[in-house]
Amino acid sequence: MNQYHYSNLQVVVLAAGQGKRMRSATPKVLHDVLGRSMLSHVLANIEALCPQGIALVTGHGGEQVYAAVEKLYHVSLIKQAEQLGTGHAVQQAESACVNAEHVLIVCADTPLLQAGTLADLLERHIKSESDISFLSAKIDEPTGYGRVCRNQQGIVESIVEERDANADQRLLNEVSSGIFCVKQKLLFQLLQQVDNSNNQNEYYLPSIVPLALQEGAKVEAVLMPDANEMLGVNDRTQLRHVTELLQQRVIEGWEKEGVSIEQPSTVRIDVSVKLGMDTVIRAGSQLLGNTSVGDACEVGPYAVIKQSWVDDHVKIHAFSHLEQAHVGAHADIGPYARLRPQAELDEGVKIGNFVEIKKSIIGQNSKVNHLSYIGDTTMGQNCNVGAGTITCNYDGANKHKTVIGDGAFIGSDTKLIAPVTVGDGATIGAGSVITKLVQKNGLTLSARPEQRYVKDWKRPEKS
Ligand code: UD1
Ligand code: MG
Repeated sequence: MNQYHYSNLQVVVLAAGQGKRMRSATPKVLHDVLGRSMLSHVLANIEALCPQGIALVTGHGGEQVYAAVEKLYHVSLIKQAEQLGTGHAVQQAESACVNAEHVLIVCADTPLLQAGTLADLLERHIKSESDISFLSAKIDEPTGYGRVCRNQQGIVESIVEERDANADQRLLNEVSSGIFCVKQKLLFQLLQQVDNSNNQNEYYLPSIVPLALQEGAKVEAVLMPDANEMLGVNDRTQLRHVTELLQQRVIEGWEKEGVSIEQPSTVRIDVSVKLGMDTVIRAGSQLLGNTSVGDACEVGPYAVIKQSWVDDHVKIHAFSHLEQAHVGAHADIGPYARLRPQAELDEGVKIGNFVEIKKSIIGQNSKVNHLSYIGDTTMGQNCNVGAGTITCNYDGANKHKTVIGDGAFIGSDTKLIAPVTVGDGATIGAGSVITKLVQKNGLTLSARPEQRYVKDWKRPEKS
């Protein structure tokens, strides 16, 4: 979505706060929201603006934060050794900003923010020739946010933090999002004048507003149409809340594309999932990571599909679990099936209840319908694998391969001791233990224990 291009813009992302209220060993901005960290959500939107550069300000756990995103985004790492406030954090990034005309400052804990909203701020900032523009929002519950104070003419005068606000100011319901766009030279000149004479003894970024006005600069608040986009995450409850709101956005987006989602409050669909038209996702299902499900599929109830590729007209029945699997068109999976990494199912394959497939290719229209384990196997087309069949692929040290030809019929409860090959069209009798090559066509079966009949045998009776 690179429809923007702001080559004279440097972005500074603030991520140095400890996030103590999360009570977590993981830095706050790396917490997951529908398959992506909060920081990754923010960076994806910023990258869509095509800025000159992105500077990421980090503090404690900075290396971990940087390592999590450096391969995905072009960011430069700025360290803020001590967290002395948002203004101080921006100051640390000065050297990264010197060649830019404008600086956009974004907090890393606002995963609902959308690229279009940032672009609107930048457009307004440039068109109105403002020196400082920031996104504000009208919210019903402004507690905790900086309040936007305006004079009688409605002109912005300052942003007052909750802890510094008087009773009247606390009643104001227009709040600052913390997202600013500022002319570069002015920004760093004003930051030098910011002091920490406030309740938290911090150098606040919003303190540049009154300083700018004193110098006759132009400051504009740009009201966000959707106040939810500015919601910040400081604790687990807020994390859940933004996750729910984002999930609703994702689900409504898929509904517009022709996907039905039953009991949506019970369903999880990550942001990177792709779904086809006329597909139905039933209650309790989870579609995770880079999963793609084609047209006219039925998923669930209670199916989990992770990092998998599902073609058109597939049914994934209740309680099935797929991870890094590929399912061909018209396949029928489950209920209670497990497809593990590198399960490659061709068109029309049927995998039934309590069947596990790992690192195996299952050819077109083959069926493994009941209680089986198939691992490290290449199976041809039109095979029928009976109930309870096991590929014994592991000798305790190494994994071995099983190869099954087209049209093979494997009787129930067969053990295929790998490495082993079953020829095309072979039939294996039920209960066989197969250790050698199975010739094509014909019947192969291992010796069976003699069946005995004890005529006068009596069942024991309860004493
Ligand atoms: C901040 C704003 C407030 C705004 C709100 C919106 C200030 C002083 N207050 O408050 O006006 O309404 O965001 O969510 O700017 N950070 C650093 N270094 C620091 C301090 C903070 O990098 O020294 C980072 C944090 O990691 C976070 C962001 O800056 O990503 C905002 O800090 P936070 O403590 O969450 O500020 P709020 O109290 O939410
Ligand atoms: Mg915050």
